[in-house]
Amino acid sequence: MSDVRDLVLETRNLVKHFPITQGIVFKSKVGAVRAVDGVDLQLRRGETLGVVGESGCGKSTLAKLLVGLEKPTSGEVMVRGENIARLSGQSLRRARRNIQMVLQDPYTSLNPRMTVGDIIGEPFAIHPDAVPRGGRERGVQELLDLVGLNPDHLNRYPHQFSGGQRQRIGIARALALRPEIIVCDEPVSALDVSIQAQVINLLERLQRELGLSYIFIAHDLSVVRHISDRVAVMYLGKVVETGYHMAIYEQPTHPYTQALLSAVPVPDPRLRGRRDHIVLEGDVPSPADPPSGCRFRTRCWKAQPYCADHEPLLQVRQRSPHPSACHYAESRDVLHRY
Ligand SMILES: Nc1ncnc2c1ncn2[C@@H]1O[C@H](COP(=O)(O)OP(=O)(O)OP(=O)(O)O)[C@@H](O)[C@H]1O
Ligand SMILES: [Mg+2]
Repeated sequence: MSDVRDLVLETRNLVKHFPITQGIVFKSKVGAVRAVDGVDLQLRRGETLGVVGESGCGKSTLAKLLVGLEKPTSGEVMVRGENIARLSGQSLRRARRNIQMVLQDPYTSLNPRMTVGDIIGEPFAIHPDAVPRGGRERGVQELLDLVGLNPDHLNRYPHQFSGGQRQRIGIARALALRPEIIVCDEPVSALDVSIQAQVINLLERLQRELGLSYIFIAHDLSVVRHISDRVAVMYLGKVVETGYHMAIYEQPTHPYTQALLSAVPVPDPRLRGRRDHIVLEGDVPSPADPPSGCRFRTRCWKAQPYCADHEPLLQVRQRSPHPSACHYAESRDVLHRY
């Protein structure tokens, strides 16, 4: 077992509800979008946790809560054992510096009017104590070099770079304050498939060299397959299954994970025809009005009347050696060794 000191990031029953209001002058709250609805995650030093789920299931909201861009409705975000909501002043700044984010779209996330040097050096200006003023240009050049870009290009503008290079710029900026933790919110989704692998390889190299820990968010399980040590699968604001890479890819026990996996392309043509395809019925329900009991039951082929009245907890079960939030969790050989 790893040491508890290795725990760099943890969430405890983390909740974010966005109020839905009515009326223009006198706004009254008529409901809430339950974007993140009770999430417990743990991230250890040097590890990558893949977070996967369909559009709207709360991945970006979770990312924003982790880096402090959104305030939780309830629950806790612990950075190195400290609840960041309780920190202030110097210790809050230190905790914030330690956890940075890489965004999805390298085309819109970089200010087109700023030079690359200013973009990457911006965190130095926000945290002036991190690097002395005289050392900032050199600091930016080192960061460019670290992510495989030409250090002499610091006076260029974002439009002079390709999509993959711009994502490297985003990564360099995230690294500027030497954080231990990086939250990558779909960092390769906007890139061509051929470029995706390069960016993932870069993230892996940086992880090895700098001892980084990653939360790596993606839509589907194929993107996080190589990079994740552990995976958490989200559905409508909740984690429905979590476990080590092998457990999730070879013995998924939650029907939703099984369905997601059955949609992942299989590289070996001999195995392709032998695979079960699970087609999910209907759309994801609205997070403003999730189904009672198990939220997945309206699309689940295993659902029983019991599922409508009893919410399944994320826990180890008789037929699931890793935590699964399904009353009928059971591994199913969807992929014949994937
Ligand atoms: N600021 C906000 N105000 C109100 N509702 C919001 C806000 N931000 C997100 N939501 C809602 O919360 C839910 C989760 O959104 P979120 O962006 O976290 O999902 P996601 O998993 O990142 O989706 P995608 O895969 O499309 O990026 C959605 O229903 C979204 O409409
Ligand atoms: Mg998102």
